This record gives sequence, C-alpha cells and structure tokens, in this order.
Amino acid sequence: QFASVELVPGDPILGLTDAYNADTRPGKVNLGVGIYYDEQGRIPLLKCVEQVEKALADAAKPRGYLPIDGLAAYDLETQKLLFGADSELLSAGRVATSQTIGGSGALRVGADFLKKTLPKARIAISNPSWENHRVVFGNAGFEVSDYRYYDPASHGLDFDGMLEDLGKLEAGTVVLLHACCHNPTGVDLTAGQWQQVVELVKQRQLLPFIDIAYQGFDKGTDADATAIRLFGASGIPAFVVASSYSKSFSLYGERVGALSIVAADRDEAKRVQSNIKRTIRANWSSPSTHGAALVAGVLGSTELRAMWESELGEMRDRIHRLRAGLVSKLATLGAPEFAFIQQQAGMFSYSGLSKEQVDRLRDQYAIYAVGTGRICVAALSSSSLDRVAEAVYAVSRG
Ligand code: LMR
Repeated sequence: QFASVELVPGDPILGLTDAYNADTRPGKVNLGVGIYYDEQGRIPLLKCVEQVEKALADAAKPRGYLPIDGLAAYDLETQKLLFGADSELLSAGRVATSQTIGGSGALRVGADFLKKTLPKARIAISNPSWENHRVVFGNAGFEVSDYRYYDPASHGLDFDGMLEDLGKLEAGTVVLLHACCHNPTGVDLTAGQWQQVVELVKQRQLLPFIDIAYQGFDKGTDADATAIRLFGASGIPAFVVASSYSKSFSLYGERVGALSIVAADRDEAKRVQSNIKRTIRANWSSPSTHGAALVAGVLGSTELRAMWESELGEMRDRIHRLRAGLVSKLATLGAPEFAFIQQQAGMFSYSGLSKEQVDRLRDQYAIYAVGTGRICVAALSSSSLDRVAEAVYAVSRG
C-alpha cells in the first residue's frame, strides 16, 4: 500500500532537536529551536503559572469538552492583551477570537478560512520567514511569494525593498507580517516604519495577517503589539492575528495559541466566527483545556498578571544581556563584526553564518543552529556563552 512513499527530510527546526538529543558529546548546546532556557539550562515553569496550576489541581475539576472556539475567558484575555484593554475594535465587537492549538494552529485555521473565503487571494511572506509559514500556507492551497525584508549586507532591514515589493502586490493579497522579534532574523520595524507599512497596506488594499509569537520578548507586552495597535487604529476593514503563549508563558507543550479576526462590524465578526468554528471542528474539533485555563487564570488576576509581567520582563532582560555578552566576547576574541547581534530583537539572531559554518559548529563543537545561520540567543547561558563565542569565532575565520 505504501510502497511508493518516499522518505522526506526531517523538519529544519524540530528535526535538529532529535539530532541534538541523540548526540552523546558532553557540553552540547542546542541553539536550534526557539525555546528560552534559564541560567541552569532548564525551560522555566513561571511562578504565576505554578500558582494557577496548584489551584486547578486542588479544585480537581472534571474534564469536559471546551466549546469549539475555546475557553471564553481565555479568548477575552487574549483580545485585551493583543488589541489593548481599551481597544475600540473590542468595544465595537469587531474581533472574533478562537483558542487554537498553538500559534501554528491559528495560522492553519486562518489560512483555511481565507482560502475558502477568498479563493483567488495569494499570500506574500517576508524573505526570509519562519520555515513553517511557507509550508502551512502552501498546504492550505496558497501560492506563496515573498517580499524583501532582510538585508544581509547591513544585517538589518531592507525597508525600501520591503515597501517597493509590498507596493507591487495585487489588491486583496494577504501579507504575512511578524509583529515583533522577527523569526528568523531578529530584525524588526520601528513604530515609524510600521506606520508607513500600515498606510501602504491600506492604500493598496492588502490584507494583513499578523503573526505574534513573542509578545513581551523585546520591549514589553504593549510596545511589542505596536503593529496590531496601529492596524487597529488605521480604519482598515479587516485583518488577522495569529498569536501564541508558548514563549511568553513558557508553555510550549501546552499548545496555547489564538486566532483573532478583525471584521468590519459586529455582525460580520459573528459570521466570521461561525465559519472559524466550522474550520476548527474539521481540524481538531475543540481545543484542550489545561493550557488555556493556566493562561486565563494568570491574565484574569491582577496580582498574577503583575507577576507574569515581571517574570516575562526577567526573561526579556536576560536575553538582552546574553546578546550583549555574546557580542562583547566575540569582540574580545577579535570579531567585532558581530556587533549587529545586539541590535536584533527577541530570541533569534540571523548570525550571518553559512550552512557550511553551521555544519562545522555541529560537527566540531556540538553546537546546533538552524542551517540558515539562525541561532537562538535565548538558549545561551553564562556557562555556554564563552564556548559558543569561541566556536563561532573559529568557524567564522574559516
Ligand atoms: C522556532 O521557530 O524555533 C519555534 O517557533 C518553534 C517551531 O515550531 O519551529
């Protein structure tokens, strides 16, 4: 039956973790997947989450099904976090939010909904983008093109190229935008640049699809949602937001995400939501209970929310320190050209290392990075930093 099935290559990101786990060399470092590790090399369990978890365990509630679109309190708190508690879009009932299986589930359900509603629409993603964006939208039947984004020469943004490419897209094209902490490059737009993109998108009648998986990892929960807030205030009739708590709550395996669709008015939002529910039903029927209860429990309590903001702030500050430490160590070794790493935002840095150099990092130093040169700065620690810097220096000098 399956004789003709061919072996396909492993996932470029998650496949690295399999290889890393199988590696028996001491001192190995995984800078592949986007996970934040603490100083001891552990994935943190946030204290605010632990408190809710204990309360849930004590209450020992039965596990019924959630509604198709998820836990209502979770959806509501998610809307406030993304659009701002005083958002006019929310008071006007223009946002349809559904709990999804991670940010990936939000992307897939959003893609399925758009393909069905706007069958002729194409999508443009940044060059480069998260590896899975092309796969998810491609599998949903979209023709995927890209717009210029990263400038390898400056290790920064090719903003003129981006505007030029977006300006050429046909009206109705879906544009995938990373709200903050761009994955894989770590290169973000300033608020002023976002405003220009918003105006262009509006003028060209494009449909923004904003992916926000790292809210709070660069400047803070509000500042990192600048793109969403600007689109929200722009008067455009519709846009889509896929969000994730994997990183900001350190709840990777709980798969807590959400899809929010902004519609023209309350009635349109209701109709959209009914279709999203149908799409979810055909995918995973209804979402899982535990992760959403944890997030809703934290965000719904003033005290726990403040605790979360502070714990998230600690992760953010530590990533900034790790960036600075890596840059300074590389400069001491004689490689000042890596200074750009400190300008990049979030978990990732596009290090500029080639595929061959990444292979040498793995083969000679047991350091794992994505083949494109992406490294997860948030997976460093003060004990691995020197070793990583020395290895990066060595491979960069051929
Ligand atoms: C990453 O880019 O490493 C993360 O978003 C994890 C994933 O699913 O790829």
